[in-house]
Amino acid sequence: MKKIIAFGASSSVNSINKQFASFVANKISNSEPVILDLNDFEMPIYSEDRERLEGIPSLAYDFKAILKNADGIIISFAEHNGSYSAAFKNIFDWISRIEKVVWFNKPMLLLATSDGEKGASSVLETAYSRMSYNNSKHIFKFSLPRFSDNFDKIKGILDNNLKEDLENKLYGFQKLLS
Ligand SMILES: Cc1cc2nc3c(=O)[nH]c(=O)nc-3n(C[C@H](O)[C@H](O)[C@H](O)COP(=O)(O)O)c2cc1C
Repeated sequence: MKKIIAFGASSSVNSINKQFASFVANKISNSEPVILDLNDFEMPIYSEDRERLEGIPSLAYDFKAILKNADGIIISFAEHNGSYSAAFKNIFDWISRIEKVVWFNKPMLLLATSDGEKGASSVLETAYSRMSYNNSKHIFKFSLPRFSDNFDKIKGILDNNLKEDLENKLYGFQKLLS
């Protein structure tokens, strides 16, 4: 059984990205998906002064330990003003202070969705370009536009082209897990 860590990069209780990440993680065969909630990793806003005075919070180490244990990582990004949600960015900043390799070069499937036409593709590109640095063969990305129209809790993605695109990315991601 492969251990897949998945989460929506959002702190919203009704996060569509959390829903989407969880849906995709559950499609992976022979896997044990672990769905994280970023609210369980809320820390003070990162600052260099705070780090110097108080050190790195233990929650940042907890988050890293979970990543280290994973065979693969799935993140679905909420887009806030064209970029990461503050909740995600804060965790990213803290964990990046622990060691240089933030995501352990694990296979990653980066997702993003919104109700807009662009499907949060700006934040997805930002994340992809950052996280694929030195890890480009182990990382896939997929954006789902117009979530309310294109996604059904039971049927999944309704549009055939988008569905096929995600299936191809999932196939590639799963191959890296074996
Ligand atoms: C502060 C804020 C900024 C936002 N900025 C964008 C944006 O730049 N692009 C976009 O497509 N949606 C934007 N949205 C709408 C989000 O895509 C929408 O709230 C979505 O549901 C967020 O994902 P989540 O439900 O997983 O949290 C913004 C929402 C908030 C609250």
